[in-house]
Amino acid sequence: TAEQTFRIACIPADGVGAEVVAAGRAVLDTVADRSAGRFALDWTEFPWGSAYHAEHGVMMPDDGLDRLRDFDAIYFGAVGWPTVPDHVSLWGLRLRICQGFDQWANVRPVTFLPGITGPLRAADDTELDWVVVRENSEGEYAGLGGRNLSARGPGGEVAVQSALFTEVGCERIFRFAFDLARTRARRKVSSVTKSNAQQYGMVLWDETFARVARDYPDVETESVLVDAMSAKFVLRPEELSVVVASNLHADILSDLGSALAGSLGLAASANLNPERRFPSMFEPVHGSAPDIAGRGVCNPVGAIGSAAMMLGHLGLPDEAKAINAAVEACTARGIRTRDVGGTAGTREVTEAVIAHLPGWT
Ligand code: NAI
Ligand code: MG
Repeated sequence: TAEQTFRIACIPADGVGAEVVAAGRAVLDTVADRSAGRFALDWTEFPWGSAYHAEHGVMMPDDGLDRLRDFDAIYFGAVGWPTVPDHVSLWGLRLRICQGFDQWANVRPVTFLPGITGPLRAADDTELDWVVVRENSEGEYAGLGGRNLSARGPGGEVAVQSALFTEVGCERIFRFAFDLARTRARRKVSSVTKSNAQQYGMVLWDETFARVARDYPDVETESVLVDAMSAKFVLRPEELSVVVASNLHADILSDLGSALAGSLGLAASANLNPERRFPSMFEPVHGSAPDIAGRGVCNPVGAIGSAAMMLGHLGLPDEAKAINAAVEACTARGIRTRDVGGTAGTREVTEAVIAHLPGWT
């Protein structure tokens, strides 16, 4: 029996979610098997998602959060399928878990892998490596607003979607970003804002950033408008280290980052409850990719990287590094899926990653 057994809740959900979660699990189980009793993983799979919705009318049962609460971590695939409106599927499962478990920090590394020539690699051979820290509990995804038809009659419907910014919410994500910057080779935090146009929430965001920055005199800072930051991702990415942004801005910028690295399928993500009062959730950045689902061709690298982030969170940093090194060894050798210019299938890449894991003995 193992020194420590981690209970993991697994939610593959929709589309390629099932395929990439199977890949990540296979890698994790191999690492656990080879740990010589250092740790074991005890998986429980939950069949929630759009198929569950077809049968039960909800994405997850009412007591879903209670059933997840005592797990050490959640490993998630992707949610969304044409049979259910996207706002219903996202709010009914993924956002419910993120917000219900106060997973207020979403960490999304932009990783440039050897052998994969993204649009930036072709132009620039500088070391590229940055991480998007997304405020994951409020901002534009606070769910505040409403629709009103009756006041203006048919054809005149009005909707309001408000963004919520609290000083507490801003401060904790900035402190998280600064602490993360202190662990990196380049100690720098770039705050993404839009305070020129949004004079309430984004000005509070900026003022709180400036105040927190004073506690980290050893960390370089900058504040950049979101439109300028999207250009900077493309034109001067070598200046980036930690990029902290609101829920919506970081959602968009992290997709841009992973596309620049070569594919949405490469990007990993951790939804953290840093106080560890609730389980944290690990998932690839990409969605359910209905256009390629079920064909065995999707890229498992984002989900495998998310599995590595989960091990890091569980206190196994060496094992996490070993997984990332195995992924790099495979991409460097040209074992890649179609989205990054290769010919391999999901299973082939997964098996190659497993074959490149160390034996630990
Ligand atoms: P998507 O991320 O599913 O797909 C965008 C493009 O990237 C597609 O061309 C797809 O084939 C490609 N792609 C995505 N993952 C890939 C992988 N692992 N390997 C190779 N190529 C990959 O985003 P889209 O199409 O906007 O949304 C599809 C569904 O996913 C929607 O229902 C949406 O709401 C949902 N979604 C869910 C997310 C989540 O669960 N975290 C995040 C984003 C979207
Ligand atoms: Mg997104």
